[in-house]
Amino acid sequence: MSSILSSLGQTVLNIEARAKWQAPSNIALIKYWGKIGPQIPANPSLSLTLSRSLSETTLLCTPSDKMEVSFEFEGKNHPKFAQKMEQFLVGLSAEWAFLKKIKYNIISKNTFPHSAGIASSASGMAAFCLCLLDIIYQMNNLPKDELFYIRASHLSRLGSGSACRSIYGGLVEWGQSPLDQSYSDTHATPVKMAIHPEFSHLQDAILIVSSEEKPISSREGHGRMGVHPYSSVRFSQAKSNFEQLLKGLKIGDWSIVGPIIESEALSLHAMMMTSPEPYILLKPKTLELIQLIKHFREESQLPVYFTIDAGPNLHVIYPESVKAKVQTFLENEARPLVEAIIFDEEGHGPQVC
Ligand code: PMV
Repeated sequence: MSSILSSLGQTVLNIEARAKWQAPSNIALIKYWGKIGPQIPANPSLSLTLSRSLSETTLLCTPSDKMEVSFEFEGKNHPKFAQKMEQFLVGLSAEWAFLKKIKYNIISKNTFPHSAGIASSASGMAAFCLCLLDIIYQMNNLPKDELFYIRASHLSRLGSGSACRSIYGGLVEWGQSPLDQSYSDTHATPVKMAIHPEFSHLQDAILIVSSEEKPISSREGHGRMGVHPYSSVRFSQAKSNFEQLLKGLKIGDWSIVGPIIESEALSLHAMMMTSPEPYILLKPKTLELIQLIKHFREESQLPVYFTIDAGPNLHVIYPESVKAKVQTFLENEARPLVEAIIFDEEGHGPQVC
């Protein structure tokens, strides 16, 4: 744990405390795939925080002799999630010994299917970390200022890398870059530069090809990048794509932004397919939808591009100005191929409930 968190002190919880937060999912336009040590990214990434794909979490902390964790997910006890959170809390208790003397009741729900390539671990971890930090702030009687969100982002990163970007709304950056000295490897930062109005309220239609749990987790995927023969080339490509993307966002040019976000998605999946233990998370329908989007773009001449995270689902990205046309097209052409469509868009970030 770094000094930004350890400086919070060693308080003891002596009364019951409660916090409730809603945190959004985010979709990476520049992908984080490969890390050094405890979620230190190998390249800068950039994401769009969503508005409707959310996790809502309540954390109840009660003083106890030992650490105990229960996790109720969508009305059902979820021992696997409880175990994951306990591991995370045990890791944090190396610095924050007081965490060992708490009973944690976590109650959470999502507005979208979990572990299906929508960053549910990001919104879930962000919501949990906001609750935990909120309770630590209550214990220390601290105001929820700018540093609260930096700390929440830092904490979320330790739990699940890309979760650190879900702490902020809009376009969010994570990872050191020569373009801006304030960009950090340890927490995310909202993109500060002026974004062209063309990209000011981006839309994301999420085409759910499959809501099944994916066979290889992101944790495993990041690990495989450590022994990947092409990893250094991929990290250089991501850095260069990151710089180009920022340029495109600034000048409002889809002919720069669109191809980069599609290239990022396909490079991510190419890494999976070419790793020493290769695997494929795409499904035949994902490819069918990619062709559909490309064909629609050519025919309509509208700026409609796709991206994909570590799963089979497609995120269709387009500006607000073409929302009605794209939604009609997706309802007519994509709906029969998918389990569900979530029409999402840029969101403002987490909210206390
Ligand atoms: O945060 P993780 O460990 O779940 O990894 C996220 C990886 C991608 O979603 C594929 C890319 C990203 O930057 O969000």
